[in-house]
Amino acid sequence: MVDTIIQGKTRRRREFCAFYTNSDPILTYMVERLRIEAGDVILEPCAGDGVFIDKIIERTAPSEFTLDAVDLNPQAVAKLKQKFGSHSNITVRKADILLEPSSGLFTGDKSTYTRVIGNPPYGAWQDHDRRKLLKELYGGYVRETYTLFIRRCCQLLKDNGRLVFIVPDTFLALHLHKELRRYLVRQTKIEEILLFPSHFFPGVNFGYSNLCIITVVKSANTKDVVTNIVTVSTAVDKIYQIAKGNYNAADYHERIRQKDVAESEDFAFLIGVEGNTRIRDIIRGCKLRLGDIADCVTGFYSGNNQDFLAVGNHAGKNTGRYRVVPPSEIEHDFINKEDVLSGLTNEKKYIPIVKGAGPDRFSVGTNWFVRWDKKTVDFYQKDRKARFQNPRYYFKEGIGVPMVRSSKARAFLLEKRLFDQSIVGVFPRRNEHLNYLLAFLNSDIFTKLLNAINHTANSSANYLKKIPILLEERAITQVNSIMESQFATRDTEGTLKEINDVFNSLFEIPTK
Ligand SMILES: C[S@@+](CC[C@H](N)C(=O)[O-])C[C@H]1O[C@@H](n2cnc3c(N)ncnc32)[C@H](O)[C@@H]1O
Repeated sequence: MVDTIIQGKTRRRREFCAFYTNSDPILTYMVERLRIEAGDVILEPCAGDGVFIDKIIERTAPSEFTLDAVDLNPQAVAKLKQKFGSHSNITVRKADILLEPSSGLFTGDKSTYTRVIGNPPYGAWQDHDRRKLLKELYGGYVRETYTLFIRRCCQLLKDNGRLVFIVPDTFLALHLHKELRRYLVRQTKIEEILLFPSHFFPGVNFGYSNLCIITVVKSANTKDVVTNIVTVSTAVDKIYQIAKGNYNAADYHERIRQKDVAESEDFAFLIGVEGNTRIRDIIRGCKLRLGDIADCVTGFYSGNNQDFLAVGNHAGKNTGRYRVVPPSEIEHDFINKEDVLSGLTNEKKYIPIVKGAGPDRFSVGTNWFVRWDKKTVDFYQKDRKARFQNPRYYFKEGIGVPMVRSSKARAFLLEKRLFDQSIVGVFPRRNEHLNYLLAFLNSDIFTKLLNAINHTANSSANYLKKIPILLEERAITQVNSIMESQFATRDTEGTLKEINDVFNSLFEIPTK
């Protein structure tokens, strides 16, 4: 019985994304930012158990506002009716805020709002028919529900109305959300973005991004708008101070011009470098990018690593559940096999594959092997789950850059081995750029540029392509000689220092 209830609860949570905002500092900040004024008409578009409404009632006289509370989940709606039924200024309605036409949602002159506050569902599952409908209504990327909520609720907002939402911060950088950024920078004044780790939100801790609270005012007059970017990373209670306008309590606070974002490629906020204006200037002003001089591509996926991957031994992290492959089954001389791309035809069954994990730079060993006999390769090419992608780059010399963000980016030579999808393969179009790029992709400035371009946990090939590049003869000669001694001495620490000196000077990074 207990199990059934728990399963039921979990299912409901997933379906409706019912993660409620049970955090007083967050609720206080959000309601404060709503700046409620007498006569406001407020919308809570995904009211859940009504915590924002509780906070509004706590701080505002009922005569000051009217409020519509909407939710899709009939159980949530029943509870909201019970809770707020005696409040004549609050109306509770069951509706799908994304699909219901405005006229069906609300009657009379209540079709637009002066305030919207909410915690929209993130990544809610949408079936195929619903996605099709959403696509017709909103266009663009419709799999992420929170961005649709922002767009829909801005539509329902009156000019100069104010919206305060708590959402993941991925929309600030990901290519998928470019159209939303375009809308926000052109049609709203983005007043403030408060950034904080997802674990501040009770019951949530997702690795792929942080959370943020965005406050916008609907207005096409975006000239001279300055956006407060506030980071609180150490203690959730600091958010009370931010609510009072005490930005000294923030772990980081800067003001950026909305115009700069509007003029950036893809309307990117470039938030990952906390106030490093030089890095932002380099990105905004660059003439040449990595994608102009190298192909950046994603690697191979077998579709079922448990069955197709094996390890040399169980010494490495997360290797325990994989089969240890006998050395006799491994083809080490795969580079000299002309038709290796279509699979091994001798008695060998496995070849080495490079995966993303591990601390090494410049050159890495691998303890991983993938099944690569002809029959299995034929299978990969047809299988729906496998990704036999970008095969013309397999077994070619290039540079591997792990996709997962780390405090210091690292890169290594692929040495003509197969690389898996946790790695972006960078293949310089000109051979003489190989060592230069290998050095650059290990430099501190590359880490900063990448973090600015995409501050979220994973950077796919498309973000790497956008990295600014400077090619200067003198720097190339210097770097080539540094790399030659790296390959001879393996003094990685010394090499990194020299590389950083060259690139910091080339990119004119101010010394502290
Ligand atoms: C993340 S919860 C937030 C609840 C509440 N605002 C809070 O912060 O505690 C999201 C809520 O949105 C509701 N919801 C999901 N999709 C919806 C839709 N399309 N229209 C209206 N409500 C929706 C869910 O039922 C759930 O109660």
